[in-house]
Amino acid sequence: MITIKTPREIELLRKAGNIVYKTHQYLQPFIKEGITTDKLNELAHNFILKQDATPSFLGYNNYPKSICVSVNEQVVHGISSSYKLRKGDIVSIDIGACYQGYHGDSAWTYIIGEPTNDAKRLMDGTKEALYEGLKAIKPGNHIGDIGLAVEKCAKKYNLSVVRELVGHGVGAALHEEPDVPNFSMKNKGPLLKEGMVIAVEPMLNLGSRHVVVEDDDWTIITYDRKPSAHYEHTVLVTKDGYEILTGE
Ligand code: MF3
Ligand code: CO
Repeated sequence: MITIKTPREIELLRKAGNIVYKTHQYLQPFIKEGITTDKLNELAHNFILKQDATPSFLGYNNYPKSICVSVNEQVVHGISSSYKLRKGDIVSIDIGACYQGYHGDSAWTYIIGEPTNDAKRLMDGTKEALYEGLKAIKPGNHIGDIGLAVEKCAKKYNLSVVRELVGHGVGAALHEEPDVPNFSMKNKGPLLKEGMVIAVEPMLNLGSRHVVVEDDDWTIITYDRKPSAHYEHTVLVTKDGYEILTGE
């Protein structure tokens, strides 16, 4: 069932989303050459607790960390470690926070040092795909319109779209109905309605769209080991469009 959020729930989802946004802002200056991904995890964990929230991912299906840090060929769900970030790394940071029972979920991708032309195309194209997907959100449009817009943008940048992982509804659970695919579907999927809250999260690859799961059973990597990027916002469907809950 796709739930329509009450005004009270929307207030809590705004608050949770804002905590996720603030955690991204807080973390950004630390995402530099030499820092371990475990340190980023620890900094985010402590920051989220200070906002009277809890990290949504920690313990979710036994996920072992508070945020996901996915480097280069890692697409999503990367597990932080003693690995030190190096020049040229493409680092996706995915953060979820739960405030008074409601979640926010957002991801962003960073480059360590100067990007190559390909890295820049990957990151610019994936970020643009997120915002193009969001532009397709308004009551009366379908979930499938989002994926269509993402796919179009990926094509423009000559990037491939990961199909195995999708966006999702957000609320009292981190993952709710509906699925929000990043590709077009024959049946256009459920109708968007005012008061729905969804996370849109394109994962785009520089090479092939195919992915595999690492031995840790979490980390998703590209089949050809070429880099991937991931941008995500949680948004509320409004009367005539959408409101980003995990932004400014
Ligand atoms: N934004 C990611 C997702 O929606 C968060 C993964 S949560 C994890 O799938 F706990 F499963 F890692
Ligand atoms: Co998500």
